[in-house]
Amino acid sequence: MSAQEKKIRAAAAALRHLREDAPIGVGTGSTVNCFIDALAAHPVRLKTVASSEATSARLAAAGFEVIDLNDVGELALYVDGADQATRRRHLIKGGGGALTREKIVAEAAREFICILDDGKLADTLGSFPLPIEVIPMARNLVARRLGRFGGHAVWRQGYVTDNGNHILDVHGLTIADPPTLESALNQIPGVVTVGLFGERPADLLLVGTDQGVVEI
Ligand code: A5P
Repeated sequence: MSAQEKKIRAAAAALRHLREDAPIGVGTGSTVNCFIDALAAHPVRLKTVASSEATSARLAAAGFEVIDLNDVGELALYVDGADQATRRRHLIKGGGGALTREKIVAEAAREFICILDDGKLADTLGSFPLPIEVIPMARNLVARRLGRFGGHAVWRQGYVTDNGNHILDVHGLTIADPPTLESALNQIPGVVTVGLFGERPADLLLVGTDQGVVEI
């Protein structure tokens, strides 16, 4: 079975967690696009909060109302993908560049369900380069400071986030303790968001596999 088919499986499984009476947070990426397609085929029409301009446009095109996070209280549910995940539900996110708004919406949600294919599970995070959103003027400064953590930062050249910032992808990290590294990286002036979800991991992983969907 292809990774795409596994993503579709995981996305379909997330539908079982919908609550009809509450707005839902929607993440970003190819797996979430499968979720939006599944949601569009579902009879319930929920209000949505989007984690990126791309998701907002896709939701609107599918007929969903997209509302501002400022206009809702806590979200009952956030559904998003990940680039890499552990069985402790720590994540690397931001391969698609939407990490800042993803972290905001995840923080606003009581439950964060992460949908992914089993090729993204890892014992230790870090083989997928860690995305970090930075204020443009601090890009080189932050890149130098990241060297102290044993990583090699590569500027995602030509890419500008929805918030007008740049992204550094940090290669070569072995992330033994995600919350501690996340906290330390957040202290570097110029860092907007670290694409490490350690302090606020997912509450549930829905992992698409050849055999079906595994819940972690
Ligand atoms: C977007 O910035 C990312 O965090 C995505 O959620 C993540 O990269 C997963 O994307 P795919 O579902 O496309 O693999």
